[in-house]
Amino acid sequence: MQISRGEVAALFGSVYEREPEVCGFAPGRVNLIGEHTDYNGGQVFPCAIDLGIACAAARREDRLLCFYSANFPDAGVLKCSLDELDIGGNWCDYPKSVILTFARFGYPLESGADFVFAGNLPDGAGLSSSAALEVLTGTVLRKLYGIPVTPQQIAVFGQFAENRFIGVNCGIMDQFASAMGRQDHAVLLDTHTLAFDYAPIDSSKAAIVIVNSGVKHSLVSSAYNDRRRECEAALSALAGKGKVSALCALSPEEFERYKDAIPDEVCRRRAKHAVYENARTTQAAAALQKGDLAAFGRLMNESHRSLRDDYEVSCAELDFLVKTAQQIDGVYGARMTGGGFGGCTVNLVQKDAVQAFCQSITAAYRDRFGIEAPTYIIRPGEGAEARTFVR
Ligand code: GLA
Repeated sequence: MQISRGEVAALFGSVYEREPEVCGFAPGRVNLIGEHTDYNGGQVFPCAIDLGIACAAARREDRLLCFYSANFPDAGVLKCSLDELDIGGNWCDYPKSVILTFARFGYPLESGADFVFAGNLPDGAGLSSSAALEVLTGTVLRKLYGIPVTPQQIAVFGQFAENRFIGVNCGIMDQFASAMGRQDHAVLLDTHTLAFDYAPIDSSKAAIVIVNSGVKHSLVSSAYNDRRRECEAALSALAGKGKVSALCALSPEEFERYKDAIPDEVCRRRAKHAVYENARTTQAAAALQKGDLAAFGRLMNESHRSLRDDYEVSCAELDFLVKTAQQIDGVYGARMTGGGFGGCTVNLVQKDAVQAFCQSITAAYRDRFGIEAPTYIIRPGEGAEARTFVR
C-alpha cells in the first residue's frame, strides 16, 4: 500500500508548520531474474512494487536543507547548508548525495528546502529502499526547482550518488526500476545500452510473492564490492586475450570455450554465474511472453542454485526459504532476490495457491528459525512521480 499524499503532507505540516509545495512517491523493486548481471553489461528483469517511500518538500528562502524521516524519528530534523554538504553517516546521506550529484552534473540548487520522508519498505530487506530514496529525491528536486532531467537521467544520477558518495558500487537496476516501473509490468533492461522493454505480468494466473528472511543485508559491509572486483578480474583476464568487452557479452558456449583464460577458480565461477544468468534472463523473458510460467519458474530455480553455489551470495535462511518454497504445491519457482547476503526471496505462485503458500512458508520458517517471515503479495507498480501539492 502506498503512503498517501495527504499523509505525507500532514506530516510536513506538523514538522515545519507550513504546507509543502510538492509531494512525491518512489517505489522499491523486486528483481524477477537477472541477478548480479547489471554491472556486467547484462539483462535484468525487475519490477517496481507497490511499497516505497513518499516525500513532501518545499523550497526555502535561505540556503538551509532540512530533512526529517518518519522512519528515523529519533534523529529529529537534520540540517545542513547547501554550501557544506558533507556525508555524515546517517540516513540523509542519500538525499544529500543526490543533491551533490545534481550539482556535479550542472544543476546546483538555487536555494535550500525542507523535506519529510516516510516509507513502508522494510529496511535492509533487499527491496531497494536506498534506490527508492535516491530516485525520490531526484524526482522531487526536478519538480520543486523545474530541473530539466528525464526519469532515466534521475536513475543514472541515483546510481552515481550511490557509487560515488555512499560507496556501494551498485549497477543501474534498482534505480532504473524505481524510476521507470510500470503498473502490471516488469522491465526487461539491457544494462549495457539502457534499452528496455515492458513485459506484461498477468496477475490473473500467478502472483509474485516476496518472503522476507529478516536477515538484514548491508551492501557496503558485505561482499558486494568484492563480487564486483572478482568479475572485473575475470573480465580483464579474458580481455587480455582479446576476447570480450563485458562478461555478459559472452554466450554460455563462448564462455566455455574461453574460460580457461581466467586463472583464478573463484573468479571463473563468478564469471560463469554472470554469463549463464544473463542467458537465463533472456530465456525467462521469452517464456513469460509465451505464458510459459513453468519454464519461467525453472529458470528462477536455476538462478538460485547459481547464486548459491557459483556466486556465493545466498545464506542459510534464504536457501531454506527457497528449498521449502520449491516443495510447496502451486509454486512455479523461487529464488533469492537482490544483492543477497540476507533480504528476501521472490516466488512465482499459482493464483489459487497463494494463501496456502504464505501459511506453509511462514510456519516452516518459524519452526526452523523461530521467527516470523513477513510475506508480501506484490502488484507491479508505477515508477516514481512528484506533483504540485494542492490541498
Ligand atoms: C543490488 C544492486 C544492484 C544489483 C543487485 C544484484 O541490488 O544495487 O545494482 O547489482 O544487487 O543483482
